[in-house]
Amino acid sequence: MSFFSKKPKETVSVTYVSHNGAVREVAVPVENTVMEGAVANNIEGIVAECGGSCMCATCHVYVDEAFLGQLEPIAENEEEMLGNTAAPRQANSRLACQLKLTKALNGLRVTTPPNQQ
Ligand code: FES
Repeated sequence: MSFFSKKPKETVSVTYVSHNGAVREVAVPVENTVMEGAVANNIEGIVAECGGSCMCATCHVYVDEAFLGQLEPIAENEEEMLGNTAAPRQANSRLACQLKLTKALNGLRVTTPPNQQ
């Protein structure tokens, strides 16, 4: 490694499951959001119309129950937008743009709903 080379970014594994059962496991840099990981890897089913500003709800996902306790609590603006999702909200519904990845979330699994708009 040369003096000028950058240290590679640490990544975590995130699995995106489509509502029709298609599974994609990708490596996403720590500190990125689940939405950014989806967009960077062309994951179908996450539209992210507002670019992560918590204003569109088109990044709605269902989070695997095993990880729910490790997520940051739902903030007021996310709570408000979760009331505007195209697919029904469930107990494990979150907005992917509000889920920042930490090392503890390695192996995170989310399912995309059948429709986002
Ligand atoms: S990308 Fe718009 S609310 Fe998440």
